[in-house]
Amino acid sequence: MKEITITAPDDWHLHFRDNDLLAETVPATARCFKRAVAMPNLVPPVINAEMALAYRTRIKAAVPEGQSFEPIMTLYLTNETSQQDIIEAKDANILAAKLYPAGATTNSDKAVNAISTLYPVFKTMSDQGMLLLIHGEVTESHVDIFDREKQFIDDYLIEITQRFPDLKIVFEHITTADAADFVLAGSENIAATITPQHLLLNRNDLLVGGIRPHNYCLPVLKRDTHQKRLCEVAVSGNNKFFLGTDSAPHTREAKESNCGCAGCYSAWGAIELYAQIFDDLGALNKLEGFASHFGADFYGLDRNNEELTLVKDAWLMPELIELSNKQKIVPFHAGQSLAWQVKVK
Ligand code: DOR
Ligand code: ZN
Repeated sequence: MKEITITAPDDWHLHFRDNDLLAETVPATARCFKRAVAMPNLVPPVINAEMALAYRTRIKAAVPEGQSFEPIMTLYLTNETSQQDIIEAKDANILAAKLYPAGATTNSDKAVNAISTLYPVFKTMSDQGMLLLIHGEVTESHVDIFDREKQFIDDYLIEITQRFPDLKIVFEHITTADAADFVLAGSENIAATITPQHLLLNRNDLLVGGIRPHNYCLPVLKRDTHQKRLCEVAVSGNNKFFLGTDSAPHTREAKESNCGCAGCYSAWGAIELYAQIFDDLGALNKLEGFASHFGADFYGLDRNNEELTLVKDAWLMPELIELSNKQKIVPFHAGQSLAWQVKVK
């Protein structure tokens, strides 16, 4: 049986949601990650330091006894976000703020309409050393959904990176070769997260043989040439690319619906799926950098001291997760075999 031991990993992008759901999502992530960047797209969104700190307390309360786990809090940028909001957030140790173009995804209707009006806020973030996390898709209705990431680079990201060369930017959950190549060509201040679903799947896995709503996420899966490029950069050992699952739970009803929600709940098999992907690509020796080193380095944080051991021993992802309120979530990769598992100490 193959075994691999790595520095304990972190998840640099996920959705815990709030209240009752935290009892499910926080232990599912804390079982293998030491830290995770908590996305702020709650209802209402987390728009200031006070809300972020209160949310942090609720997440911490859901960490199982005896486990060490730190959420990394983020602010949700709106048209009204002020430079003072940023300064207060930085003082409260909030490391990053998230830019959702309005309407781009789940709970983003309160987000930013005119990105350039936020330039003074970006300037303050740059001065304060706060990271800008970007959902990089345009939202104009005439733009084809498969082209929205590339269009965002052309319409916004090139300008933002040119105007704010010192601002640290994470291009979140990239899905295209265009995004990977943009990040590669950029300065050391731009990096990207990559999800397991965008490495494992392409749009055929969404649409061939019937619509598969549990593979639907945003940005949407792209064609296989993009998937291959993402795999190449993920296993390349380049420190601009690191782990961010975008694990995002929705109930079964909300996914299997006439207008299904976007998001894959991958927390139950997160590090295991990445191990499988890297193993299949003959690059297990590159997993530790991607999962445990590069994100912390980019955020300017210490790497974790602990280790995590994974064993090559197949198991089946359950078909359903039942919450205490009887609602059900279909996990990502439901009913399918995973090659690796976390070794319990
Ligand atoms: O698929 C997604 N789900 N993409 C996002 O950007 C948001 C997330 C969610 O919050 O459900
Ligand atoms: Zn997300």
